[in-house]
Amino acid sequence: MDQIRIRGGLRLQGRLQISGAKNAALALMPAALLTDEPLTLRNLPRLADVDTCGHLLNQLGVSTHIEGARPDSFGRVLTLRAGRITSTTAPYDIVRRMRASILVLGPLLAREGLATVSRPGGCAIGNRPIDLHLKGLEALGATIELDRGYVRATASRGLSGARITFPTVSVGATENVLMAAVLAKGMTVIENAAREPEIVDLARCLVAMGARIDGIGTERLEVEGVSRLHGATYRVMPDRIETGSYACAAAITGGDVLLVGAERETMGATLQALAEAGVELLPEPEGLRVRRRNGLAGISVQTAPYPGFPTDMQAQVMALVTVAEGASILTETIFENRYMHVPELARMGADITVRGRSAFIRGVGRLTGAPVMATDLRASMSLVIAGLAAEGETLVRRVYHLDRGYERLEEKLAGVGADIERIAGDG
Ligand code: UD1
Repeated sequence: MDQIRIRGGLRLQGRLQISGAKNAALALMPAALLTDEPLTLRNLPRLADVDTCGHLLNQLGVSTHIEGARPDSFGRVLTLRAGRITSTTAPYDIVRRMRASILVLGPLLAREGLATVSRPGGCAIGNRPIDLHLKGLEALGATIELDRGYVRATASRGLSGARITFPTVSVGATENVLMAAVLAKGMTVIENAAREPEIVDLARCLVAMGARIDGIGTERLEVEGVSRLHGATYRVMPDRIETGSYACAAAITGGDVLLVGAERETMGATLQALAEAGVELLPEPEGLRVRRRNGLAGISVQTAPYPGFPTDMQAQVMALVTVAEGASILTETIFENRYMHVPELARMGADITVRGRSAFIRGVGRLTGAPVMATDLRASMSLVIAGLAAEGETLVRRVYHLDRGYERLEEKLAGVGADIERIAGDG
């Protein structure tokens, strides 16, 4: 397995291109199942998870055609066409690799009246149930059976609109129910819907395909079902988590980097936390310039559903404040087990104590490079960020986590002056 080697201590400077959003792409691609006409997605990031999603859709009978795959360019154009659905089963082998596979459930059910999807199981950041997805689909008239690790959903007479109130805000459940509701008979109201920008992106794409959705971007979505959707061309939003991650990377090195294509409007809570830590954020016509000239201050942040501070930024911001001048408190409220990066950051010299859902971080003068590894995507990125500032060499193992969610990470960071390379083997 490959590793990433970083020799830390260099100041990052220059321009870095932001890619299309992973979590938007993984919801937009299954939307292609809702129509027999082509759905063309522009600005699709090149990521292992996007490839996995493509393979899954291929297995269901969706054809995929990629353009713009020039090796020197970021992003691709992908045309998906679900002319005829040949299978309604998402097998364990794919779902266990990528939890977002669960997002084919709603669209398959809406289009074919039948979907069989492996249950995802737990993962490194916690238990991650899918009960809300299933209750939402049941409310639309689906019958759900659980059989040997699979969820089998049927709606032989089609789905009908309903009022659904989620007890907890869930990104995935909102997406699944929204995709099912657009083809259901009559009106669906989703209360306490997640408002993440990736859901807004999905809803806008569905509208471009002929769906009728009101309340986009609010916690109450009203969907008037239509009998069919048509094809569309849609541009995937910029990745706000990738943007935030590279902002932390620039800041921890005392750098000055223009994040080209970054969209500030979707990043309020992240930018506020960075500003409180003493990072300068300068809007520019091309994107967002991130600069740090003074020391970092400690911060207090709690993760929450959008527009709150994203759980997907917690690990990266933690890496940043390990070298702040003061103390910080980060509290994780979304996932129960999302501190797997803490012992690894500690191996690099960070001073962090976890008590319950909170992590207390005392800033240290410097970090030192070490061999490290992480068990999930954002945790791995936090180790890269720490490695950029650490003295000496850091080896980040299990690079496949990074490849799931960061398009050509080492190339982007080397482009702004980091000493970083991918090396083959376990070392
Ligand atoms: C999505 C993102 C993931 C991100 C997370 C939080 C995608 C593909 N994944 O994950 O990267 O880290 O949002 O922003 O976009 N819950 C239930 N029952 C359910 C579903 C969720 O109890 O059926 C709980 C979860 O355990 C968690 C909370 O609801 O505590 C939020 O989870 P959710 O928003 O669903 O996260 P995902 O959609 O899995």
